[in-house]
Amino acid sequence: MATKINRQEAPLHFFAPCPRGLESALIDELTQFCVTSPQPAQGGVQFQGNWNTCYRANLESRIASRILWQIATQTYRNETDIYDITHAIPWHEWFSTNNTIRVNLTAIKSPLRSLDYTTLKIKDAICDKFRDITGHRPSVNTAQPDIRIHGFLDAKKFTLYLDTSGEALFKRGLRKKAGEAPLRENLAAGILRLTGWRPDVPLLDPMCGSGTFLLEAAQIALNIAPGLERHFAFEKFNDFDQTQWQRLKQNAIAAQLPRIARPIYGSDLYGDALTDAQINLSAAGLAETVKLKQANILEISPPASNGILVVNPPYGVRIGEQQTMMELYPKIGDLLKKKFSGWHAFILSADPALPKLIRLSTSRRTPLFNGALDCRLFEYKMVSGEMRKRKNANNLHRETPATYNN
Ligand SMILES: C[S@@+](CC[C@H](N)C(=O)[O-])C[C@H]1O[C@@H](n2cnc3c(N)ncnc32)[C@H](O)[C@@H]1O
Repeated sequence: MATKINRQEAPLHFFAPCPRGLESALIDELTQFCVTSPQPAQGGVQFQGNWNTCYRANLESRIASRILWQIATQTYRNETDIYDITHAIPWHEWFSTNNTIRVNLTAIKSPLRSLDYTTLKIKDAICDKFRDITGHRPSVNTAQPDIRIHGFLDAKKFTLYLDTSGEALFKRGLRKKAGEAPLRENLAAGILRLTGWRPDVPLLDPMCGSGTFLLEAAQIALNIAPGLERHFAFEKFNDFDQTQWQRLKQNAIAAQLPRIARPIYGSDLYGDALTDAQINLSAAGLAETVKLKQANILEISPPASNGILVVNPPYGVRIGEQQTMMELYPKIGDLLKKKFSGWHAFILSADPALPKLIRLSTSRRTPLFNGALDCRLFEYKMVSGEMRKRKNANNLHRETPATYNN
């Protein structure tokens, strides 16, 4: 049924898509923004709230890709139903014909024959509704629309969302240089949450590339809201509450911290990668918070007696790289075992050879998707030799210490 806009009373229904595997991390995060009834779905979280919740989720979420407001969900049989459901919605109450639009449609098990044709029907229904009521229609702009409408079809149901974010939320505008295979910012932030890292714990990324983990961690440590420097689609909505939005932004600015509790460390084998990381951190005003060094991962030493090491090694898709990685994994295992006792290491990889070659026992493996790449986040708890002996003797612990498998 189409949702009639009612900003004061009825709770609004939202869907926040995120990288697959981060749904529970996103629920944890959204709970901080006072959302109600968060429920995991594949590749996102459904929740309820009001416009304040929506503004806050856009401003502060590091893990969501977008915040979509659900405006209709109804059963359908054919394209005519899709047109009618869309036409019944009071689009003219929410935005104006001065705004450009774009319609995106995705489907799973839909009986309809053409997604392109159905997308056109949705666009026509919106434009016809505007023309019926106002005499004008909005223009389409697929590259930089003001307003994005997302449709989703399953076998029986058609759901329509108005995108409150606009550009995806992981586009923070911080990364000026991307380097080789950079992680999406929201995947990096979600992984940091999964590691349990807190700003008073040392953090090291020894293959930092353009510095995505470092940038996210530095912002988290300084409590900088990721959306402070950008604009959102909801600012174009007819009922946009400028006063409420400015208040939220001022609160976020007031909550920022002047300095971080512990430095964050990054290194990479290549000078070019470090230059990218340096440029990105400086552009974000975060250069002071991160210590960078050019080093081979095999030659680094831990910068503190304990901490969290998080790393996203090259996947080895290029010719020659795979062989290099096969030789590197056992050596990384050796390094962790010999030098990083007391640390927790987290390795994100899509390489099925890694777990065997690294020759350490995994404490936890979390399935995650890096775009379409099916990855795992492997956790290794590096227990110190003395601790290991004591624990083995007393058999008191449940966790598996990171040791050689053979
Ligand atoms: C997949 S990229 C990391 C991307 C990074 N997470 C980002 O978001 O920009 C892997 C990085 O490992 C670095 N690297 C490769 N071999 C290395 C080694 N032996 N020691 C240190 N860094 C290495 C590469 O230069 C590359 O920057």
